[in-house]
Amino acid sequence: MDSGARGAYHGMARFGLLALLTGLWWRFGDACPESCTCSVSRIACIDPEPGIEDFPVLTLDDMENITEIYIANQNKQFNISDSSLRHYINLRNLTITKTRLKSISSDAFFNNTRLQYVNLRDNNLSMLSWRTFQNFNISYPLLLSGNPLKCACENLWLKLRLQEEVDGPELTCTEDSGVMTDFATLTPPDCVVPKVEVSPGTVTEMEGGNVEAVCNASGSPFPEIQWNPEMLSTNFEMDDSDHPGMKKSLILTGLSPDDNGKMVVCSAENMVGQNEATLLLNILFPPTIQNLLPPVRDHQWCIPFTVTGNPKPVLQWYHDDGLLEEQNFIHTMIHESTENEDHGCLELVNPTHIHNGEYKLVAKNEFGQDTKTVTAQFIDPPNFNHTDDVDYCK
Ligand SMILES: *[C@@H]1O[C@H](CO)[C@@H](O)[C@H](O)[C@H]1NC(C)=O
Ligand SMILES: *[C@@H]1O[C@H](CO)[C@@H](O)[C@H](O)[C@H]1NC(C)=O
Ligand SMILES: *[C@@H]1O[C@H](CO)[C@@H](O)[C@H](O)[C@H]1NC(C)=O
Ligand SMILES: *[C@@H]1O[C@H](CO)[C@@H](O)[C@H](O)[C@H]1NC(C)=O
Ligand SMILES: *[C@@H]1O[C@H](CO)[C@@H](O)[C@H](O)[C@H]1NC(C)=O
Ligand SMILES: *[C@@H]1O[C@H](CO)[C@@H](O)[C@H](O)[C@H]1NC(C)=O
Ligand SMILES: *[C@@H]1O[C@H](CO)[C@@H](O)[C@H](O)[C@H]1NC(C)=O
Ligand SMILES: *[C@@H]1O[C@H](CO)[C@@H](O)[C@H](O)[C@H]1NC(C)=O
Repeated sequence: MDSGARGAYHGMARFGLLALLTGLWWRFGDACPESCTCSVSRIACIDPEPGIEDFPVLTLDDMENITEIYIANQNKQFNISDSSLRHYINLRNLTITKTRLKSISSDAFFNNTRLQYVNLRDNNLSMLSWRTFQNFNISYPLLLSGNPLKCACENLWLKLRLQEEVDGPELTCTEDSGVMTDFATLTPPDCVVPKVEVSPGTVTEMEGGNVEAVCNASGSPFPEIQWNPEMLSTNFEMDDSDHPGMKKSLILTGLSPDDNGKMVVCSAENMVGQNEATLLLNILFPPTIQNLLPPVRDHQWCIPFTVTGNPKPVLQWYHDDGLLEEQNFIHTMIHESTENEDHGCLELVNPTHIHNGEYKLVAKNEFGQDTKTVTAQFIDPPNFNHTDDVDYCK
């Protein structure tokens, strides 16, 4: 332990004693390992004796409130596994330094999406996967110097991110021969980030139709190709029997209108990195008026409706079977428009009894039309009441 750390440790111990005496001390003192001090938001383990072999396990609530973990001067070998940090969901700062930390699993930070500062200097890490850091953006450089990093393909991603996110230019790696090399000059053989392509990139098809798209990739080592169609309503099948491992087809049968506008992602990844390409579904279908409701009073009077259809349907209103000409005080307003649905109103400004009657909505596109009718009864005169009278007389 350096003297600074020792000073800090004694400072903390003294604070602990003081807190204990004043009845403030930590109720989970039992769960906090001997070599650590735990507060509501921070765990610090800086005492090498007896040392820790894994991350402290506190109660679930307590782990959720921790924002910083600081571990230093540990002599026992330890790893960060998939489960080590899973309950520390609010962790922002992680420092592990001067320990024998040897490996970090690729899902180690899966649940730690708020991590922003990671300091892993002066440990025993030789390999580190890009997958470990894929779930979040750290806003500070990833601090890694002082580790026996190998000049291996698996570590090449560090060079690719060197400028922006990783420790400055001093970061070095060790060749098999033992020679130290600057990361910036690292060029392992057969080590290329995947490229991926989906063809076609967009399909325009009627609902009920079928689609086949092919995803192919390149990269070294050859990447694993993965379609992600799980969120589709349409039935899907995947096939790579033509070029096992090299290309993968996605076959969609009976296209559902619910999938209109969705993007299906194909990803290709290898130890160097990952890339994605997408298939965009443009599914054509005739209009449906999902609902047409009696008028409600918002800022103005509104006859609410929801219509679907691709292309977006053209809307026409009828009042008591006469074509309704839209104008300033009676007009269609679309309030919310998604890929598939338009939510809106027929807006009426100060309607009177002459506006009562049946309102018919016709929604039309090139594939068909739908019609719905609703009865409207407006109060005449609207919203005139006693209190208004009193105010007016003042
Ligand atoms: C965790 O933090 C929340 C909000 O700050 C607080 O209400 C709660 O008491 C804390 N839980 C523990 C165990 O300290
Ligand atoms: C840490 O991981 C390495 C490599 O994965 C393994 O050989 C070692 O046994 C692990 N050590 C501990 C303490 O889990
Ligand atoms: C993430 O945290 C939640 C809640 O603590 C837990 O249920 C889940 O299993 C964790 N996920 C992983 C991958 O550890
Ligand atoms: C995290 O570390 C950064 C950089 O050292 C510091 O500015 C910040 O206050 C820390 N945040 C927490 C929650 O510890
Ligand atoms: C670091 O790990 C290597 C094996 O990868 C091991 O031989 C060495 O003893 C470790 N060093 C320390 C200080 O733990
Ligand atoms: C990280 O940042 C990049 C670019 O700034 C962004 O595209 C990506 O979605 C971000 N990832 C996460 C998990 O926030
Ligand atoms: C996909 O295959 C086509 C034709 O075989 C080829 O021209 C293209 O380069 C390939 N794309 C990738 C990313 O490998
Ligand atoms: C009457 O007017 C008052 C004040 O302007 C308002 O608070 C109240 O809701 C109105 N009542 C009706 C039935 O509109």
